[in-house]
Amino acid sequence: MKQVTYEGLTFEPYITRDSIDARIRELGKDIMRDCENKKPLFLCVLNGAFPFASDLFRACEGLDAEISFIRLQSYEGTGSTGVVKEVLGLKENIENRTVIIVEDIIDTGNTIDRLVKDLQAKNPAEIKVATLLFKPEALVRDVKPDYVGFSIPTKFIIGFGLDLNGLARNLNDIYILKED
Ligand code: IMP
Ligand code: MG
Repeated sequence: MKQVTYEGLTFEPYITRDSIDARIRELGKDIMRDCENKKPLFLCVLNGAFPFASDLFRACEGLDAEISFIRLQSYEGTGSTGVVKEVLGLKENIENRTVIIVEDIIDTGNTIDRLVKDLQAKNPAEIKVATLLFKPEALVRDVKPDYVGFSIPTKFIIGFGLDLNGLARNLNDIYILKED
């Protein structure tokens, strides 16, 4: 693995695909244990969470579960705008269901906080949050994800679904912005 460059910014290897795979398998086991007989609905937050959701859902092979996809966005460039848009695309009735929100990353927590509140209003049995990455030091909301792949420092990362202005989502590993 070597450095990659996007928009004049250099990123260095940070979390390998193998470590991501191994961690997702562990999270899958945790979810299978916690959600046995609950028929959870996985809600993948597009665009960034799609590789994680795909692997996490299949790591739960054997569990009765459904998956669906929603969209919302709050980010421009490498800094959070703090502007969170509406939830788009939720067609399922989530009343009395266990919902597992699948996110790529929780940074300030603004996005997930808003999403959880919007979904709570639809009276689910419970809402769980699974995030591949978590920046605990950037958190400004009172949210506690149930399933965390990796807790990381407040630095900008790309790859495995995470983008820089739409690019780099197809990197198989995760890379971190190089500071000089
Ligand atoms: P929050 O609302 O600040 O928690 O931000 C959540 C969203 O910001 C995520 O779903 C990502 O789309 C984006 N984001 C936050 N940190 C990063 C990062 O390091 N790389 C790429 N996107 C990020
Ligand atoms: Mg996102």
